[in-house]
Amino acid sequence: MIFVTGGAGFIGANFALDWLQEHDEPVVNIDKLTYAGNLESLVTLQEDSRHIFAHADIGDTVLIPELLAKYQPRAIINFAAESHVDRSIHSPEDFIQTNVVGTFNLLESVRAYWSKLDEQEKADFRFLHVSTDEVYGSLAKDDPAFTELHQYEPNSPYSASKAASDHLVRSYHHTYGLPVLTTNCSNNYGPYHFPEKLIPLMIVNALAGKSLPIYGDGQQIRDWLYVKDHCSAIRRVIEAGITGETYNVGGWNEKPNIEIVHTVCALLDELRPRDDKKSYTEQITFVTDRLGHDRRYAIDARKIERELGWKPAETFDTGIRKTVQWYLDNQEWVANVQSGAYRDWVETNYADRS
Ligand code: NAD
Ligand code: DAU
Repeated sequence: MIFVTGGAGFIGANFALDWLQEHDEPVVNIDKLTYAGNLESLVTLQEDSRHIFAHADIGDTVLIPELLAKYQPRAIINFAAESHVDRSIHSPEDFIQTNVVGTFNLLESVRAYWSKLDEQEKADFRFLHVSTDEVYGSLAKDDPAFTELHQYEPNSPYSASKAASDHLVRSYHHTYGLPVLTTNCSNNYGPYHFPEKLIPLMIVNALAGKSLPIYGDGQQIRDWLYVKDHCSAIRRVIEAGITGETYNVGGWNEKPNIEIVHTVCALLDELRPRDDKKSYTEQITFVTDRLGHDRRYAIDARKIERELGWKPAETFDTGIRKTVQWYLDNQEWVANVQSGAYRDWVETNYADRS
């Protein structure tokens, strides 16, 4: 079987769902259930004996070794992290705790387990660390996209904590021979995306008649990938990636934020028009920028295509339409994640932005 950490979050839940659609191999899903973890995203697996949920912190040095000894996984995919840049600006400590200390403790637990496997099992074992393009820093308008050789220049507490975890993972390969793989992916979007992030926030706010807050001038560029394509890339890297290597994952799909928001509004205008028939773009508001806001990310995904034959299946047009439709069809999921804690966060992040 395999272990997935952070599998009640956005990408991890999509990964667990897709994995069990494609494989019969069971998944032990380890999640601390922070504000971002949501078991409702996994409700279709409730009766599925191939899915075992374990409520645990990756940094728990008692529970994680027990789970490893009990289930004897052949692979671990580490999604668990604090993932929101704005939250890392308000409270960086949680990011250091989970992304740095938590990953370190997980690596130690895994190293102890792996070192006792027999030689064949050791060679076949994989630890895949899911990372981000943000570790490479920010690009100027005409800079080439990030390759795997790009220097690490993290700019936010979030990206710095992810960079630290990437370095720890790398060191466990170099020093101890642990068979690790790292993927650095661009911005994901799709079902089960927590509505603190740009695309789901815009959909949810638009439908609620609230403002659509665009940081700064809205010309920051992100490289968007449909989440199911990220999941297929990870499956391919687990299957055929060379240990010790890193693979950049992206959709060749750079867009300024303002264009993303206009696209979301146009789809909502078509699929769920406002009562007054005006466009949702009327709700766009420009607000104070994010501190230290990275201007542009872009992923050069040629290595994973050349070496592992992976390419995204969705275009942005098909992926964003599916995403908007998913939110329209899953209003109950949205309502249930908008707890008191969610409302507190919205107040913290947006109240002071003029
Ligand atoms: P998310 O915030 O939606 O989910 C994170 C999950 O991890 C949650 O279920 C949470 O409960 C869990 N978690 C947090 N701390 C934990 C801990 N200490 N122990 C166990 N579980 C813990 O994040 P996401 O967007 O799904 O991102 C998943 C991973 O992918 C992260 O490592 C992130 O850095 C990386 N990534 C995300 C994107 C993106 O666009 N969302 C892009 C590239 C890489
Ligand atoms: O690049 C990969 C990264 O993408 C992941 O590593 C992170 O975990 C993930 O959260 C995401 O980070 P971003 O900061 O790029 O995503 P976010 O959705 O928060 O913001 C996308 C862009 O939209 C960014 O330029 C900030 C802007 N934005 C965001 C919000 C929430 C706004 O203009 N208004 C908003 O209200």
